[in-house]
Amino acid sequence: MTDPRKDPILVTGAAGQIGAELVPALRRVFGTASVIASDIRMPAPAAAAEGPFEHLDCTRPEQVQEVVRRHGVRTIYHMAAMLSAVAEDKPQAAWNLNMGGLYHVLEIARQYRCAVFFPSSIGAFGPTTPRDRTPQDTVQRPVTMYGVTKVAGELLADYYARRFGVDVRGLRLPGLISYMAPPGGGTTDYAVEMFYQAIRYRHYTCFLRGDTALDMMYMPDAIRAMLELMAADPARLSHRNAFNVAAMNVTPERLAAEIRRHIPGFVLEYDIDPVRQAIADSWPRSIDDGVARAEWGWAPEYDIAAMAQDMLAKLRERLKPAR
Ligand SMILES: NC(=O)c1ccc[n+]([C@@H]2O[C@H](COP(=O)([O-])OP(=O)(O)OC[C@H]3O[C@@H](n4cnc5c(N)ncnc54)[C@H](O)[C@@H]3O)[C@@H](O)[C@H]2O)c1
Repeated sequence: MTDPRKDPILVTGAAGQIGAELVPALRRVFGTASVIASDIRMPAPAAAAEGPFEHLDCTRPEQVQEVVRRHGVRTIYHMAAMLSAVAEDKPQAAWNLNMGGLYHVLEIARQYRCAVFFPSSIGAFGPTTPRDRTPQDTVQRPVTMYGVTKVAGELLADYYARRFGVDVRGLRLPGLISYMAPPGGGTTDYAVEMFYQAIRYRHYTCFLRGDTALDMMYMPDAIRAMLELMAADPARLSHRNAFNVAAMNVTPERLAAEIRRHIPGFVLEYDIDPVRQAIADSWPRSIDDGVARAEWGWAPEYDIAAMAQDMLAKLRERLKPAR
């Protein structure tokens, strides 16, 4: 009998903020040879040498199919997408990538009987959604192209599960904080930038208002959430897709206060970007992840204090103060 733990896994968009940490995490569990990283960008030579890599454009179904067929892929973690701030700048291209890419991945998963992980976002909510402790099942009328593609993606994923029996699961991820790869143009990128600038210059100019509250999560928790959801007993899942998950509630002021506990004298100033502020103002201030906790045992490990301590320790290994 073959060992299902060695079944090939494909990660699309593997060179991005999540993929850079998801691929090594999957390889630790399932073995290096079983995890095929892919992206439209070529990885740095060091990253490419760490295991199998395929140059793959998700908007080209023949390329997705060829890689799935050739490697006998059984699970696809679909990370390739355009993030919120970039998508507002290029809405047509965002639709093409976010919807086209997901549709091709789901179609090929249907044909080759693959399981799929699809990351949705708190951006799938909108201004008419209850903004505090947003429930799992609620109003979703987003006003950004990113949000439109995330809601449509959630519905398409549910459709493929119900209509064709594709085992597609997903999370509504909050803003992710990480130190390995830079964020790809989202509205919560300020949180990562603040750490880099705090170490280098003890100063950061933030593009969101100081009291803008959004849920966030440290990358190790996000990676663990993905792996735990994909390993969960399907009999316990009544939702399967688009689970709210949360870990910490962050405002620029709160994050700066946390950083000041380690870097006294850190200065936070503001130069508000109206586009990203409008996106943030249309999203929930906090979300309720009780359904994920009940259905598959979700529990975060990092609160804001533990995250900040670890981020600064990891970044200080690589960055030096500018003077
Ligand atoms: N990072 C976050 O804070 C966050 C929060 C919520 C949801 N998400 C979702 O998680 C997923 C991954 O996010 P991320 O932060 O790693 O994004 P990212 O922007 O850092 O990475 C996306 C990757 O996709 C690649 N890509 C672009 N076009 C492609 C194409 N046509 N074919 C193949 N690859 C292509 C890019 O080169 C990039 O490496 C996205 O669906 C995103 O919406 C991310």
